[in-house]
Amino acid sequence: IAISSANGIRAVTKAVELIRFGADALDAVVAGVNIIEDDPNDMTVGYGGFPNEDGVVELDAAVMHGPTHRAGAVASIRNIKNPSKVAKLVMERSDHVLIVGEGALRFAKAHGFIEENLLTDRARAEWLKWKENLSTKDDWLPSHTADDKDIGGILAPYHRNTGTIHCSAIDLKGNISCVTTTSGLAYKIPGRVGDSPIIGAGLYCDNEVGAAGSTGRGEANLVNCSSVMIVEYMRQGKSPEQACL
Ligand code: GLY
Repeated sequence: IAISSANGIRAVTKAVELIRFGADALDAVVAGVNIIEDDPNDMTVGYGGFPNEDGVVELDAAVMHGPTHRAGAVASIRNIKNPSKVAKLVMERSDHVLIVGEGALRFAKAHGFIEENLLTDRARAEWLKWKENLSTKDDWLPSHTADDKDIGGILAPYHRNTGTIHCSAIDLKGNISCVTTTSGLAYKIPGRVGDSPIIGAGLYCDNEVGAAGSTGRGEANLVNCSSVMIVEYMRQGKSPEQACL
């Protein structure tokens, strides 16, 4: 069984396919979300994700493995398409749980990952539109004529994109694992880290109980550590729905 956020239909299909062939739940969910990380049309995850306020894509991801109760995560990593794979390597090939920024990039490159430009033309155009329309008082201007006045500042009210994908699965051995990966809040302050790579907030699993993970604006979850709370409420006997509510 695999479950994900609404953008993960292809991820759960892939995960279940691998689990049917005997894969470990963690390998299955990571392979599943890699499809979404690679997809430029999902602008909230991986390649093609919305950039930070400087126009640079910064990604967060974490994994948790039920049978060993180990976890790995990266935050604010640049230029690497599949941060979920790097998070899994942090778990498997380091004695740390969370590596951020430049250190995460260096760790990924040490393991053979190739740096790529993650900013697609579509994401750059959206970022530029945001930047040019933030204010009538700055020097970034949207397309206009020489006669136009008070240019920019049309964005209120506008929607800050969040997104993210979480995928949890249980495999044929009854083991549970999960992954969360995201490009985070669109146009965030560089270095902002959301809930996704924080174990207990963006995801959590306990092999004896279950798993939980989150999407959406991470700040609310960071101050509540909702994933670990949900698993603990399920341990106490609440249904998944009641635990989430
Ligand atoms: N939930 C993803 C984020 O806030 O970055």
